Amino acid sequence: MEAHIQHLNARGLKFLSAAAPLMPEDSDRVGSVIEADTEWTLPSPPAPAIDILVWGRPSLPPNTPVAVAVKAAMKRELAILGLRRALGAPYAIRAVHRLSPPHWRWSPVRNGVRALLLSGVLVEVVGGRTTSRILDAIADDVGSDGSVRRFCIGTGGAILARVRQRDSSWAFLRAAITSDVADPTAAGEGLAHLPPACASWAPRLLGWGTTRGCSWTLESVLPGRRPRRVTSDTIRQVSRLCLQLPSADGPSSALFEDLQMLATALPDRAARIQRLAAPAARIVEGLPSVMRHGDLWSGNLLAQGAKICGVVDWGSWHPRAVPGSDLLHLFAVERALATGRHIGQVWREQPWASPAFLQATSEYWSALGLAPEPRILEAVGVAWWASLIAGNLARLPLVRHDERWLKCNVDAVLG
Ligand SMILES: Nc1ncnc2c1ncn2[C@@H]1O[C@H](COP(=O)(O)OP(=O)(O)OP(=O)(O)O)[C@@H](O)[C@H]1O
Ligand SMILES: [Mg+2]
Repeated sequence: MEAHIQHLNARGLKFLSAAAPLMPEDSDRVGSVIEADTEWTLPSPPAPAIDILVWGRPSLPPNTPVAVAVKAAMKRELAILGLRRALGAPYAIRAVHRLSPPHWRWSPVRNGVRALLLSGVLVEVVGGRTTSRILDAIADDVGSDGSVRRFCIGTGGAILARVRQRDSSWAFLRAAITSDVADPTAAGEGLAHLPPACASWAPRLLGWGTTRGCSWTLESVLPGRRPRRVTSDTIRQVSRLCLQLPSADGPSSALFEDLQMLATALPDRAARIQRLAAPAARIVEGLPSVMRHGDLWSGNLLAQGAKICGVVDWGSWHPRAVPGSDLLHLFAVERALATGRHIGQVWREQPWASPAFLQATSEYWSALGLAPEPRILEAVGVAWWASLIAGNLARLPLVRHDERWLKCNVDAVLG
């Protein structure tokens, strides 16, 4: 990246992605990124030339055993206290940002406890010289009325912040190191692809750009909160929104791209994936293609009461996907979350054939002029699974070596 990072010791891209926009804006200032080890060992005192040090660790994986998480949380808090004590003048902690684990379900108490145990942390340490961060330069570029003090880090590692514009309106800023999975440019392209009809429920893209090696997008702030549950009515409402997504000429290319990605990432399973997908691929050839959101689950919906009023987080969109794959994702992920099971296990139950799914989506299929025959629904099931696994492999490349994850999500489907 362009920013001047003198010391870079980030074990994972996620930490680096979030830390990069916090590096100094000016090339004559020096930044340092240090990702702590699992023992939360304190960094050595910053060298005199360092203007900004970002130190910490990302959150622990959701399946971390409780005893391990409790120990890690204690070490984390002691380390933050230790860092406060260890820093000598001119260094001082400017901000401590908690890196929450993903909130899979709506449950404030449960999520609070999980955050306490699993959270990571990102500490901004500043030296004696006033140093503007890349994030401040971005805030200036987007017309914000000041520097960004409060933000959260998305699951991919992007900085997410509500920023006040000079005209007093609010906007939603995403920023991350360019070309990383957290790079928000793809999400911005998705928003730009939406027709005006979607403006009432999808964010409007207000701006995008690159500032010193970090990409950013600015979008309108939508009202509402995450819905507590996904009901049949939720799916019916979302299906009406999905009908406003643009269709494309010719059949879906998303399935083929996703299958290609799976075969490359999992070469020893490529032949079995091909066997599973061949009949679905033939059926998809005869179906229209539509834009997909690509990660349509309750965490990316906004609701006011029972009314779904927003869909956010468009980074996994595709212009030519298989119709119905977003709706199946919404339905099946909710089932997986409600029962604590893996996606592959839910797939085996053929959720696309369940009366609840068929009832909630009947209006969608008839609006598209498609009869939801079993062979079409099964093809939607394969397309949905391929997109979800390909998305996971892209976002979390390490899962390809996680035998348990592969068994429950890939082998369970391949049989
Ligand atoms: N345009 C927007 N308007 C209002 N709220 C938004 C907007 N975009 C995102 N949000 C809020 O921020 C949250 C996180 O955003 P997003 O889903 O895009 O990121 P993420 O990487 O999935 O992060 P997280 O793990 O926190 O969900 C959303 O669940 C939503 O509550
Ligand atoms: Mg999200």
